[in-house]
Amino acid sequence: MTLILGLESSCDETAAALVDDLRVIRAHRLAGQEAAHAPYGGVVPEIAARAHAEMMMPLVEAALKDAGVTLNDVDAIAATAGPGLIGGVMVGLVTGKALAMAANKPLIAVNHLEGHALSPRLDNPDLQFPYLLLLASGGHCQLLLVSGVGQYRRLATTIDDAAGEAFDKTAKLLRLGMPGGPKVEALAREGNPKAVKLPRPLLNTDEPHFSFAGLKSAVLRAHQSGLYQPADLCASFQQAVVDCLVDRTRRALAVAVEATALVVAGGVAANQSIRAALMTLAADHGLPFHAPPLWLCTDNAAMIAWAGQERFALGMTDGLDVPARPRWPLDAQAEKARGAGVKA
Ligand code: KG4
Ligand code: ZN
Repeated sequence: MTLILGLESSCDETAAALVDDLRVIRAHRLAGQEAAHAPYGGVVPEIAARAHAEMMMPLVEAALKDAGVTLNDVDAIAATAGPGLIGGVMVGLVTGKALAMAANKPLIAVNHLEGHALSPRLDNPDLQFPYLLLLASGGHCQLLLVSGVGQYRRLATTIDDAAGEAFDKTAKLLRLGMPGGPKVEALAREGNPKAVKLPRPLLNTDEPHFSFAGLKSAVLRAHQSGLYQPADLCASFQQAVVDCLVDRTRRALAVAVEATALVVAGGVAANQSIRAALMTLAADHGLPFHAPPLWLCTDNAAMIAWAGQERFALGMTDGLDVPARPRWPLDAQAEKARGAGVKA
């Protein structure tokens, strides 16, 4: 039995989890920071870093207690080493290094995106490589061919905003509060997805990538016109995102013919309309569809512990000098997308 302690602190959730190699989540503790960031309408990096520094060790202690183990029973410590808000990443990674040194255990530096990318395999033991992954979160929107642990080919990325960012900005515009995605989804249930005519950027184009900035601006203009109810704006916005995600994923499936399944992960994968549309797309292609349970889609430490398990099984551990990385692409060879890094 291999037991791994996972630590996550790359954005605004502090989390610690213990996961074994039989995919049993022996403990999972998570502390959100919504109240601390709420007055600012978005995540404030320094406030996040300070909260991680306060919460991380109590969560580790609580997780060990929940599982009825001590640090000595753990086989390795996996910590998110990037990408993310660097202050928070450093808190988690340095905590992981200190625990690894104190307990004389190996350290595994996990790419947060790899945590999301492999999370469906924690949930589903039957999910084999290679699979096509739509990774949609607050900071990323990518299509990746996942061929193995550490083997990722990026087929598409966003040329401006991430899908989750578009949800968050729409929520902010309509003053729905944070986190934006679930708030927009809830209000969209009461609205008409056809009420507001909105653009679907890059739909049906040969270019493989995503774009959401134009959609965001269109929602802003529609809102300012005063003609539409917030519920109709949310429903129409969400439908536009669904259409874009499905169209781009369909295009990637045509390229990634070796994929044996369609998988969605990342916070946006918690959205029921998006899950349902992708499930239909997968069925149309005769492929199985996998989406982790909602709590495993948004940031958590179980996915970091699981990525640690996958790496540990292959003998992939890291030295105590491993760096914290604010940027860390899963596919270092990927071509730059037009406009990448240029923020609207
Ligand atoms: O993966 P995640 O927890 O953190 C990042 O690594 O970014 O993703 C958070 C993002 C946020 O933008 C949030 O609004 C979005 O995922 N999200 C959703 C839903 N739940 C979370 N977006 C749409 N529908 C949801 N139900
Ligand atoms: Zn994430």
